[in-house]
Amino acid sequence: MIILGIETSCDETAASVVKDGRIILSNIISSSAKIFEEYGGVVPEIASRKHVEYILPVIDRAIKEAGIKREDIDAIAVTYGPGLIGALLVGVTAAKALAASLNIPLIPVNHLKGHIAANYLTHKELKPPFVCLLISGGHTNILDIQGYDDIKILGGTRDDAVGEVYDKVGRVMGLVYPGGPKIDKLAKEGNPEAISFPRTKFRDNVFDFSFSGLKTAVINYIHSKEQKNEDYSKEDVAASFQKAVTDVLVDNVFETKSKKIVVAGGVAANKGLREALNKRAAKENTEVFYPDIHLCTDNAAMIASAAYYINKEDFDINADASPDM
Ligand code: KG4
Ligand code: ZN
Repeated sequence: MIILGIETSCDETAASVVKDGRIILSNIISSSAKIFEEYGGVVPEIASRKHVEYILPVIDRAIKEAGIKREDIDAIAVTYGPGLIGALLVGVTAAKALAASLNIPLIPVNHLKGHIAANYLTHKELKPPFVCLLISGGHTNILDIQGYDDIKILGGTRDDAVGEVYDKVGRVMGLVYPGGPKIDKLAKEGNPEAISFPRTKFRDNVFDFSFSGLKTAVINYIHSKEQKNEDYSKEDVAASFQKAVTDVLVDNVFETKSKKIVVAGGVAANKGLREALNKRAAKENTEVFYPDIHLCTDNAAMIASAAYYINKEDFDINADASPDM
């Protein structure tokens, strides 16, 4: 089964052709992230306009690079949410038009299910059940994945998402958007024990997270140094912040006692987190899976893969900024 996936939930315009949910025939991503560097974050209106500009050429290229003809496509998959509503609408509209013109099914995909499916593209034998640590720019959850489309939320952040905190801390440190990958790099050169930043744990749900206290502590540390005109080591701040984040993520996901943990979302690319999880996993005899680095952040291959397993067509879908899982 050949599925064309379309993804436009944030600042990546993406299209991809995937065979049988596991084999990537093409994976085209046109990112407008560079444009947002000077704004320090995504500007929704500009993101929507860029999607309008890129969507058709990106779809055409995905079909061409896959070496197929439009008539070979069996279904169209599209992200309908969560995401920026104007951005989502561009992808949904293009997907509807294409599915109607080819007279083939349209499969709406929840973006978060897409992030999980990035692992199916990387690990051909991987299948549920497993526990998923979903960490992206907008979400932070621990999920119990009983079946491909049978997902229970065990816990989540009560305030900021991990990626969001990385990007905010990055901005205060003067790093270009998105700050996540830059902090990850700086952290390698710093001392993770240099500064003691807070870790939050909830007694009423050990799978829940809170990162706003940590975010405020890091920002206060930097501001107070700047006010006193004192130098500080960006590497040490990055390493200490990253250690506080990874301690909490690792600790909470291992509370599930699952022997099979799958990591998903943009922050799954984080090197420090991978090291920390692998170390703990070795001690506790647990398997941990990550997507290939290039499949961690937003792409359409993961959407096409998720669609293969969801396989519920619905031509009447609408873009939805914050749908349920
Ligand atoms: O999943 P994603 O592409 O978009 C959303 O669905 O939100 O995730 C983007 C987020 C950004 O916040 C970015 O800073 C973060 O993932 N990110 C990282 C790393 N690579 C991307 N955060 C920490 N370390 C990284 N290496
Ligand atoms: Zn995403």
